[in-house]
Amino acid sequence: MKTILVTGSSGLIGSEVCTYFARERGWAVHGVDNNQRAVFFGEQGDTRWNQHRLERELKGFRHHELDVRDRAGIQALVDQLRPAVIVHAAAQPSHDRAAAIPFDDFDTNAVGTLNLLEAARRSCPESPFVLMSTNKVYGDAPNTIPLRELETRWDYDDPAFANGIPESFTIDQSKHSLFGASKVAADVMTQEYGRYFNLPTCCLRGGCLTGPNHSGVELHGFLSYLIKCNVDGRQYTVFGYKGKQVRDNIHALDVARFIAAFADAPRAGEVYNLGGGRQNSCSILEAFAITEGMTGKKQSYSYVDQARAGDHICYISDLRKMRSHYPGWDLTRSLTDTMREIVEAWENHPTTQKPRRGGPGRARANA
Ligand SMILES: NC(=O)c1ccc[n+]([C@@H]2O[C@H](COP(=O)([O-])OP(=O)(O)OC[C@H]3O[C@@H](n4cnc5c(N)ncnc54)[C@H](O)[C@@H]3O)[C@@H](O)[C@H]2O)c1
Repeated sequence: MKTILVTGSSGLIGSEVCTYFARERGWAVHGVDNNQRAVFFGEQGDTRWNQHRLERELKGFRHHELDVRDRAGIQALVDQLRPAVIVHAAAQPSHDRAAAIPFDDFDTNAVGTLNLLEAARRSCPESPFVLMSTNKVYGDAPNTIPLRELETRWDYDDPAFANGIPESFTIDQSKHSLFGASKVAADVMTQEYGRYFNLPTCCLRGGCLTGPNHSGVELHGFLSYLIKCNVDGRQYTVFGYKGKQVRDNIHALDVARFIAAFADAPRAGEVYNLGGGRQNSCSILEAFAITEGMTGKKQSYSYVDQARAGDHICYISDLRKMRSHYPGWDLTRSLTDTMREIVEAWENHPTTQKPRRGGPGRARANA
């Protein structure tokens, strides 16, 4: 039986990858997570519920309570397992949080990645290695693209970006936030292990990755948190750009499917922009309207003029490179499919405060 090692296994992407390889491939799945998300974001970011769900639901899943900063512990685990694939999804994932915890951020994102890369090089250099990188490696350079203002969103006013932002976009000389900078270090190091040592590595520069298993909080998990606010009847705060800032959203299942496609036919030192593309993009205002249509609840929100530092005004991933290298892969979940799943998940989530009314979210959405 083949073995996969997934870090950040209790998080959104890690848990989806664990589920995919256990159910679709029948592999033995080893997850590494220490619930650091609860340390970063407090109780609302706690991912233990997801760890327990995996332990309950997945045959062949084994949890390892390990910190990716523990270099010796990571080396020992990789030595012991010699996994056929490594997916590194553990991270301090928030742009805004990083400034308050710069050492934790860099040690987790940059040094943690180096710990895994070096362990892989020593123990299983032939095994595909996937780093979950981020579109924040481009810093705020995407904001230099000319934009036009539409009724509910910003859009690129330059035909060169009609398909979105390609992997050749500059990562240099822009404001990244400390999080973006620590992820650049991890991204470039992962490329280097591919180019210098010829390890089969790739960096997936995520747009908004989402799905029902995200423990969305204000500082991370755009759609998950926005929908949670609506379901809980909580006020959402919009930071700048008139609420017309655009994100492209991809369901975690489509991320896991791409990782599997890469693992089946790996390349060395590759980089892909991974998001929902134009077809799954929405602004905050548009996301409010879609959610309201599903839950029947009006979203209350406040508006703060000051945008988040380094926030993208319009970010759409150009998916053409992914599609050309892996033609068997494409998006399988639309934006509304994904949002409906998130609504249902929050309505039934243990942390949701509101008493449940009537049947599942889908029925209410149609009411
Ligand atoms: N979700 C998104 O919108 C998005 C967008 C772009 C990139 N990404 C990247 O994808 C990856 C996964 O994101 P996610 O949304 O699943 O995040 P997540 O926060 O849901 O999951 C990350 C998991 O890693 C664990 N973790 C954090 N630090 C750890 C450490 N030191 N040791 C062991 N475990 C640790 C956390 O407890 C958490 O369960 C991250 O690298 C993130 O930067 C995510």
